[in-house]
Formats: sequence, C-alpha cells, structure tokens
Amino acid sequence: AGPGPLAGRTVVVSAGGTREPLDPVRYLGNRSSGRQGVAVARAALAAGATVRLVAAHLEVPVPGGVELSTASTAIELDAAVQRAAIGADALVMTAAVADFRPAEYVESKIKKSDDRADPVITLVRNPDILATLVSRRAELGDRGGLPGLIVGFAAETGDAEAGVLEHGAAKLARKGCELLVVNQVGGGLGFGVEVNSVTVLAADGAAPVTAAGTKDEVAQVLISMIASRLDADVHR
Ligand code: C5P
Repeated sequence: AGPGPLAGRTVVVSAGGTREPLDPVRYLGNRSSGRQGVAVARAALAAGATVRLVAAHLEVPVPGGVELSTASTAIELDAAVQRAAIGADALVMTAAVADFRPAEYVESKIKKSDDRADPVITLVRNPDILATLVSRRAELGDRGGLPGLIVGFAAETGDAEAGVLEHGAAKLARKGCELLVVNQVGGGLGFGVEVNSVTVLAADGAAPVTAAGTKDEVAQVLISMIASRLDADVHR
C-alpha cells in the first residue's frame, strides 16, 4: 500500500486455473496461465492498494507485496475467496474456475486392464463462486462485509463482436456483479498469450469500455475504472 488512486483500498484478485483431481496423478484442468489476474494484482499494487491474491494454478510468478493465499480446486478457491473478500473494497474474479469436477475421487491410480471396460468419468457441477458471493452479499445485512464492487471475467469464443457482447450482457445479468470483463479468446487472443482485447460491461448502464493491448495495459484500464468507481462512492 502507498500513495496512488487505490491508496487505502483493499482489492482481492483471484487468478489462474483450478485443477479437479481424478486420481492421485490425474486432474481436469484448463489453459488459464493466470497472466491477466497477476497483471491486475500488479496494477492494483502500483495504484497503492492492499492486494490479496487468491492463486489457483499459475504459470507466472506471484508478484511481491501481495497477501497470498493458494487453492487448487474450485471448492478450495471458493473457501479462499470467501475468506479474502471480507472487508475488501473490490473483488476481481479472473480465476478460470472449472465448472465441473469428477463426481468421485479414486484413491489409487486408475489402471488400464484388458478385462475391464473403458472407464467413464462422471462430472458434477462446482459452485459458481462469483454468483454465490453476489447472492450472499444481497442476503446479508451490511453486505456481510463483502465488497460492493465485484468484477467478473467472461471468456467468449464467439467471432462476431455483437454476439460476444450480447452473450456478455446476459452473463452480467445472470451473475449479478457490477462489472463484467468480456474477453475474446481464440484466434491468438486470451488464454496463455500476452495480449488481450476486452470490453468491460457495467450493470449500472454505464457505457461499455473497450481496452486492447498487453495484459498489463488491460489491467491498468480496469484498475482505473475500479478506482474511479470507488472514489465516486457508488459501491461503498
Ligand atoms: O460462467 P463463466 O464461467 O463464463 O463465468 C466466468 C466468471 O465467473 C469468472 O469471473 C470466473 O472467475 C467466475 N466463476 C466462478 N465460479 C465458477 C465459474 C466461474 O466464480 N464455478
């Protein structure tokens, strides 16, 4: 924490991909590198915030100066985000949370054997961490200490710009968060790459904001939006 537009503020950032174990050596994962989330954490630090980074699996180093907690699975991330969010001013959910996990964890490595049928993996839904937090916040008095400004990310693979934004608007309404960063993935954008192109949609009807560039540049745009919204007191 120091001087800057987020001085005195606490920002929670979740980043990276969850891994859902199948047996002691296998998991279901995703291609999230954690780059965008780590960039948001760095930009928040540079803006003077106290930053709580809730890290799932990252391919990039954890920036110095954050309050770090770690999680591997969606269930662990849920618990860690809930803990970190209490008393924070803003929560940015960049983590790529697995929507499903194997219904059953097999205690010993699943073996292939000629006499056995091909194994079938049954999946069950993971909790939607973001949507659950938003609805808990609405139910609890004094918001339960949860941030008034919750930001979701949405990776959309659609090509048509309009379709992507339409999808984003529906997701924003469904999740109930204040801002949704719609992120076009595929075609050299999004997961694992350095550059990003996003549109930030606001639930309060503010005009969409578009940002393109490195993940650091996108993070800075998002952090300035967060700072001006917190300054305007709208989410206090
Ligand atoms: O529905 P979708 O997975 O596209 O939503 C993405 C947003 O919701 C991201 O901000 C992600 O961190 C969050 N999310 C979550 N819990 C899940 C799935 C996604 O918080 N189980």
